[in-house]
Parts: sequence; structure tokens; C-alpha cells
Amino acid sequence: MFDVAKIRDDFPILRQTAHGKPLVYLDNAATTQKPRAVIDRLVRYYETENANIHRGVYELSQRATAAYELAREKVARFLNAPQSPEVIFTRGSTEGINLVASSFGRAFLKAGDEIILSAMEHHSNIVPWQLAAEQSGAKIRVIPMNDAGELSLDEFERLLNPRTKIVSVVHVSNSLGSVNDVKRISELAHRVGAKVLVDGAQWAAHHPTDVQKFGCDFYVFSGHKLFGPTGIGALWGRSELLEQMPPYHGGGDMIESVTFEKTTYAALPNKFEAGTPDIAGAIGLGAAIDYLQSIGFESFESHEAALLDHATKLLKEIPGVRLIGTARKRGGVVSFVIEDPFIASLDVGTKLDHQGIAVRTGHHCCQPVMERMGVPATIRASVALYNTINEVEFFAGAVRKIVEDERAKKPKQLAVAPSRSALAFPEPAAASPRAAAEELADLFDALEDWTDRYQYIISLGEKLPFMPPELKTDANRVRGCMSTVHLFARRKPGTEDGVDFLADSDAEIVRGLIAILEKVFAGQSAQEVLAFDIEGFFKRLGLEDNLSMGRRNGLASMIQRIRAYASAICSTVPARRDCVPPKAEVSRN
Ligand code: ALA
Repeated sequence: MFDVAKIRDDFPILRQTAHGKPLVYLDNAATTQKPRAVIDRLVRYYETENANIHRGVYELSQRATAAYELAREKVARFLNAPQSPEVIFTRGSTEGINLVASSFGRAFLKAGDEIILSAMEHHSNIVPWQLAAEQSGAKIRVIPMNDAGELSLDEFERLLNPRTKIVSVVHVSNSLGSVNDVKRISELAHRVGAKVLVDGAQWAAHHPTDVQKFGCDFYVFSGHKLFGPTGIGALWGRSELLEQMPPYHGGGDMIESVTFEKTTYAALPNKFEAGTPDIAGAIGLGAAIDYLQSIGFESFESHEAALLDHATKLLKEIPGVRLIGTARKRGGVVSFVIEDPFIASLDVGTKLDHQGIAVRTGHHCCQPVMERMGVPATIRASVALYNTINEVEFFAGAVRKIVEDERAKKPKQLAVAPSRSALAFPEPAAASPRAAAEELADLFDALEDWTDRYQYIISLGEKLPFMPPELKTDANRVRGCMSTVHLFARRKPGTEDGVDFLADSDAEIVRGLIAILEKVFAGQSAQEVLAFDIEGFFKRLGLEDNLSMGRRNGLASMIQRIRAYASAICSTVPARRDCVPPKAEVSRN
């Protein structure tokens, strides 16, 4: 019998609360929590073994080297790799894929060759291949999937041909949970002589990995999704291929000899590990593997399957919820949207956070998957061995309540769509951005806690001026947001450099943020808009801590867009000079 309470005791972080509620951590596909055994191993390394590896003749360095190389052996056994020099330490799955795409690309790809990916890949298994394709002239082909999120292996067979040089597919989809038959994919690809890379990021912490049984040529995974430290992962590759591939990075520890005329490279694995590696990370990863193996996959695979089945069943029972990704074979992840009444994924994630529940919302670095499924974003809960049935029930109950609360709200007043000529732009809230900000800050100060402030932001959003649909064009779409945002600005008629703007989002929290932006900036002079430290103001309101501002909701992108408009308006005034927007943080969604 699997004792989940005992397992939870191994993870100190799980005793925390979030917003005063017990932390329910359901974002394991993003990263997993770390057991005491891993944390202690890192401390022991830094306290008693820290030295650079492969370089020192002294005892401490030899101990560090031995611990690092032992970790490689542990990874090799974990993957059932034929030999441990075939295991290359990387920063994670992303770096592993980049290494293969770049190095395999340079060794084996030429114009006219074909690279096959699947429709459910993470950006990290698309972009590196686009770079390799640009460099070599090879073409990318894509295995389609059905509405459930299952790859069509028939289509895959049709895509395969003698020009196919490599097939790179995800083992378990991070956005849909679909489990791909990588053994069959490898068999089919090998028939035409293509090589196969499998992205095991979402598989390795949940099921035994056996690269020989899978029959692939390369396999990557990330340590941090396997209860290990961040910044470490591994690539396994067949030695006959790795040996023919050029180094990915150049530097120390990867050479045999260097002269200015010519360098010869070290043998595997060093050829691919230039510079001082993440020694502690590798050793910590070894400890994570020991930890997992001491529990045994066979003891928790059925527990995780039960969590997933239960979550799926409970979510399906909530009217208005639609599951995204219903493949027959799924692992670890349940993704969904709330369609009736529509609630933006970002809002659902924020409301769940208020209950102490951590999930991921957005496109999950899989924009092509969202496009294929016809949704802008999903809410994703992802489980690990330490989650409990109670947590799943608490989570599903919270989702149900969010839907019911939304239903209970008075139907939104449908604004009469004014025509473009009757556009109403918000008037300035005060004499200057600074004065408007002061007024808002006073109001926020009067509110007791974050819950009240959140409610206040939402209520501001509810009063946001109407943005006519004809202004919601692609050109006005603000990219890099976790919700759908449109923003339009113009010079305020009758002013020299006044900024008029309207914006809207499908997420209520973002509408609230837009309302704050409008209060501070609308109708103000472009020069003052550019000069005002809006980021500092959002910090001052205390929003930074609670909304992970720039990144999560696209606030930084909206600010950038407003500044770009303000800059354009300002520069039309001959006497004005300082029209350059201050350097803003660029959103990296
Ligand atoms: N790839 C990770 C995820 O799916 C970060 O969340």
C-alpha cells in the first residue's frame, strides 16, 4: 500500500500555506518539489566536497569528481543506457534538444532533408529545429493529431521517406497529457533510416525509462521535474552518433589538445560538457534518482493514475468545463477551459491561487497546440506522487465554486456598441499621471489586505470603458499576454500631445490592470506618460508580490505598447525632444 502521508513528510515545502490556506501544489509539470534527501545532498556537497572536477590532483577535487561521475552512472542506470559516457549532463531538456538539433544538424542535415516533429510539441522541441532547418536548408514536417490529442501514426508513416533524417517527439505532452508510443515511432522512423529524439521531460518522474526498450536514438529529461535541482538535466544518445557529432559548446574540459591551428576533442562525454558543469546539480540529481528508486515507480504509478482519473471525472461533472486533451493514454496532466460562462484561464488560475492551489494557466509554451485545439489558453493541473485524493477534491471543488459564483453574478450589461465615430475615450483622472497615481495609491492604502485590493481591481475592470469590436484587430492585439488583450491609442483631438487610449481583455484581472493604466495615463500628455515610472507605481500598490506582474499577465507588454504610442505622439511635436520610452522589461512569454 502506497503511503502518501509518509512521502509528503519528505517534502518540507508541502507544509507551507499560501494565502493562509494549505498549499495544494498541482504544477508538477512545470517543476516538482524537492525531498529532504536532495536538499541535504546539496548541502553536504557544498559543506564537505566542493571543488572543481577533472582538474585537481588534490583529494577534495577527486572526491567531487567521483561524486559527479557517480551521478552520471546513476542517470545511465536510471535510463537503462548501455554505457554511462553516453549520458551528457545538460541544463535540462531544452538544452538537450538544442544540443542535438545544433550538433546533429551540423553533422547530418543538408538542404532537402526533412525533420519530423509532432503537432503537440513544446516550443523547446520546435524552435531549435527551426534554427537547424534555417542553417541546413532542411524542411520541417509535422505529424498531425486528432481532437483528443492523439498523434496519427498513419499520417506519420506517410510523412516518412528517405529524406527524413530525424524525428523529434515528446513522450508525454506537457499541455495535453497525451502519452505517445515512442517505441512504435522509433520502429517506423528507423525503417527509413531516420534517427529519433524523445523529449522525456514529462515522463521521467512518473514511469520507468528504458531507452533500449524505447528504441530511440536520443532521450532528454530535466532534473527539476524529477525532484532534483533546477539547472541540471541529461541527454542520452547512442555513442556512434554522439561520436560523429561536433561539440555544441567549446571551452575547457572538452578538448584533447589545443593549438591556434587546430583543436582535437576529448572523448565522450567530455566533448559535450565544456566549462565547469553544474557539479552540485548533477550530484543532487543523482540523489533524486536514488530517492525515486527507493520508493519504486511500481508503488506510485497507480496512485498517480488514480489522482488523474479522479481529477478528470470531477472536472467533467462541472457544467461549463471542457477538457482539452482526452487521449486514451494520458499521464500526469489534466488541462481544461471554462466555457459556459466563459472565464479566462488567467482568472481561474488567480482565483485558485487565492485558495492556496497552484496550477499553471496559459499556452504552456505550446502555442501550436492551443491553435489546433481552438483555445487561447488552458488551466492545467499536474500531479506528482505526493499529491492526495483530498487535494484533487479540494481543487475540483474550488473550480466548481468559481463556475457557480460566475453564474450567480448578474448578467453583464451588454453595452450598446457605439459606432467608431462615437468612440468615447476616458478623460484624465487628475491633472497629471503623478496626481492620478497618488489618488489611486491613497485608495489602495485604505484597503486592508490583498483580497480587498484584488476585489477593488476587479471592480475597476468592471467599469472599464467599452472597446468596440472593430478596434479589436490583429494590429491592436498585444502579444506576450496570458490573456487576449487589445489596445488602441491615438493623439487626443484638440491637444498637442495628449494620449487617448482604450484597451480590453477577456480576463477580469487584466481588465482591472487596464483600468489602473487608464486612470494614470488616459488623456495625459505623451511626455508625462513617458516620464512616469509606472512599474514603480505598480510595486508601490503592492501588486508585484501578488500577481507576478510583468510576466504573467502581460502588463509589461501593455506598458510597452502605451509607451510606443506615446513616443510616436510626442515625436510629432517639434519642440519635444525626450520622446524615447525608458527601457522596459520585455515580456518573454
Ligand atoms: N515545460 C514546463 C511546463 O510545461 C515548464 O510547465
